[in-house]
Amino acid sequence: YKPAFERYSPVDKESYKTVVTRWPVIITNIVSAVSTVNHELTSDSSADAPAKLAEGKEIVSKLSALKHNMGRNGVLEPIPDDGNANRACYNDELAATADDDKRWFTANWLFAECYLYRLLRSYFALTAHWKTYDPFFASKAETYKSSSGAILHLAHALNSMVESKDLQQGFEKEGSALEIAFWEMVQADLWGNATDLSLLTDLKYEDLQKLQAVGSAAQAEQAEKILRNDLPKVWELLKTLKDGRVDIVMDNAGFELYTDFIFADFLLSCTPFVKEVVFHPKTIPWFVSDVLPYDFEWAIDSLFDTSFFASHANLKEGDTEALSALAARWKAHQTSGRFRLSVPTTTALGANVLAANFWTTQYAYQDLPAVDPALLAELQKSDLVMFKGDLNYRKLIGDAKWPVTTPFSEALGPLAGKFNLLSLRTNKADTICGLPEGIEARLDKEAPDWRVSGKYAVVSFEPKA
Ligand code: F6P
Ligand code: MG
Repeated sequence: YKPAFERYSPVDKESYKTVVTRWPVIITNIVSAVSTVNHELTSDSSADAPAKLAEGKEIVSKLSALKHNMGRNGVLEPIPDDGNANRACYNDELAATADDDKRWFTANWLFAECYLYRLLRSYFALTAHWKTYDPFFASKAETYKSSSGAILHLAHALNSMVESKDLQQGFEKEGSALEIAFWEMVQADLWGNATDLSLLTDLKYEDLQKLQAVGSAAQAEQAEKILRNDLPKVWELLKTLKDGRVDIVMDNAGFELYTDFIFADFLLSCTPFVKEVVFHPKTIPWFVSDVLPYDFEWAIDSLFDTSFFASHANLKEGDTEALSALAARWKAHQTSGRFRLSVPTTTALGANVLAANFWTTQYAYQDLPAVDPALLAELQKSDLVMFKGDLNYRKLIGDAKWPVTTPFSEALGPLAGKFNLLSLRTNKADTICGLPEGIEARLDKEAPDWRVSGKYAVVSFEPKA
């Protein structure tokens, strides 16, 4: 599918910045993660250690060569046969592209960035000892811990909603307690997306804390930053559901995943609308912080571990209990199938059994109906499919240079109307559509980096036709 407008590429400012500053930093961080393990291996007496160390050194040298190739605007090479899925889709597109259009600074941004993460996976998949290694795990865990303030606040808020006897009373009426609770929970999930590690190179820690702000006063301030807000339509839809199914196409692990759980649990435990939430993770490390099946399990388990947040938070009385109660409820949702992962939880990285996974191809979601009809059919079983975050939004509208007032339905192309679709996105990349007249001109003056700073957001809903 070809949108009416071309895609962003590094000739555009933000995309250029990514190639020049973000990717090299991300590669350097992987080098240091692997080197740390290599260092430990030098004093490891187990039988595997020497072979693993040799492979670790090989990975580091491939990463250095990649960084060099990127800096000198080299051609994107085919992804080697590493036994994993989603190889042909990239290589076929590369084969059909002229050399000058497939360099790091000339290829379209969306393709090159997806390709980068698939290529990185091959470096690990091709080894014997690093197949399941996720170079981003330690940083995901660290930001999870450092979000403990907002984590505790949300745990207490949700637990008391779950315990409240009369939250559902008169929920049909405008401004009901349940409606207000819905707004609070869904907005926490929206701004949870601000904690994306690929952007942490730019955002200051204080900014982050502000974006994680929870509670009504802070949220009212944040609500002004939502440049298009379709939540009223979503609430109208939810109210019509009984025993419904909601799908979440997830974005980042750590705090954002936690807010996904919070919102999902709110729907299951506090409303009469939903009986099942299906979560769609990635199957290879993706855009640094995206959720892998392991992260999903781990996020819940860590809440049971009383020492996990202890070093970061001044735990008060009742905090540990609140987290355990929350985690116990989430475990129970998992056991009963009310929380469900779309892939088996045992899906191990690099186990060479990775099913093709549409979410880690380079395709825009406008191509979903044509490329993956089985996935489309699965999503059509859902009453509401939520797409989290910036990359999912870029893919929904093809990362194209739409005039900002283009209707969301038009930008979705063939995906529009296929199912009830909701996108919760904080703005971190140029592409955007569906804005009311006048916003672009105002913000270009007031906050010139509004498209990319992560401080503004859009909530876009497109109903099933
Ligand atoms: O802007 C840098 C970037 O890597 C974008 O390419 C990408 O869209 C975004 O960060 C990732 O953000 P999110 O985790 O919200 O998808
Ligand atoms: Mg992400």
